[in-house]
Amino acid sequence: MTSERSAACVLAFDDEAAFAARLAAALGTPLHVVERHRFPDGEVKLRLPPALPPRVILLRGLHHPNEKLVELLLAAPGARELGAREVTLVAPYLAYMRQDMAFAPGEVVSQRHVGALLAQAFDAVITVDPHLHRVRSIDDVVPQRRGVALSAAPLLGAWIAQQVAAPVIVGPDEESDQWVREAARGHGLEAASGRKLRRGDCDVSVMLPDVDVQGRAVVLMDDVASTGHTLAAAASQLRERGAASIDVAVTHALFVGDAIERLHQAGVLRVWSTDAVPHETNRVSVVPLLAAALRRDR
Ligand code: R5P
Repeated sequence: MTSERSAACVLAFDDEAAFAARLAAALGTPLHVVERHRFPDGEVKLRLPPALPPRVILLRGLHHPNEKLVELLLAAPGARELGAREVTLVAPYLAYMRQDMAFAPGEVVSQRHVGALLAQAFDAVITVDPHLHRVRSIDDVVPQRRGVALSAAPLLGAWIAQQVAAPVIVGPDEESDQWVREAARGHGLEAASGRKLRRGDCDVSVMLPDVDVQGRAVVLMDDVASTGHTLAAAASQLRERGAASIDVAVTHALFVGDAIERLHQAGVLRVWSTDAVPHETNRVSVVPLLAAALRRDR
């Protein structure tokens, strides 16, 4: 029987209702959808259920993050006014994690400040494969709060092992090394990662690792693909080196503009992703991963 103390609900927005329904079903909790009204001047008004249980799990994936951050900053205190004593943010994709230092004098370190905003609003933040490079732990991103960073790499590794016979898993840069090795572990797969030099949003060079891919199946893996330039640069080189096939697996399928076309032009055959960001390439669900973490976090 659900005790008053552990009574919970999932609160979600209409554009994520399908994912939220799967999460609520996995948890056995009710799902409520936030009503949104956009005023003619662009402001937003939210309407939550008038009486909320003590534990509210607010789902908001932060792809296209700017407006969603405002929604979160309204929804979290609003939920507390309506009965929530603990509000947990489940953000399958946590935005603004890549700007984790001032790369030029005067640049604002977005990761730190977005993290501080979330820490102010939520008791806990649960996410999947956040881009933590110079900051090693999610706890440092949301100070004084519970941060939980889950990894979809084992799930992607299992998917890759089902789809491709004995592939080499290659990461395009240093950061991807952690995910590539985790995906390969347990399946006896070879893994290696390269180095990347980024000169601009759409201007990257990738130096691939010294691994023999001639005649072999390769799966390129990364935490996030945005413009696709990073993966395309890696794929072109793998093709030149004689890879038998090149597939792509990512946790977060942002794939802006013509990113998917760019990958195919560079020689990529198939593109797979998790549903941490909704996209036509979604093949692996992170719902069970999130549900298990939420059960542990009680
Ligand atoms: C950053 O290092 C990330 O891990 C990705 O490699 C990067 O965000 C990919 O961006 P794009 O697809 O625009 O090259």
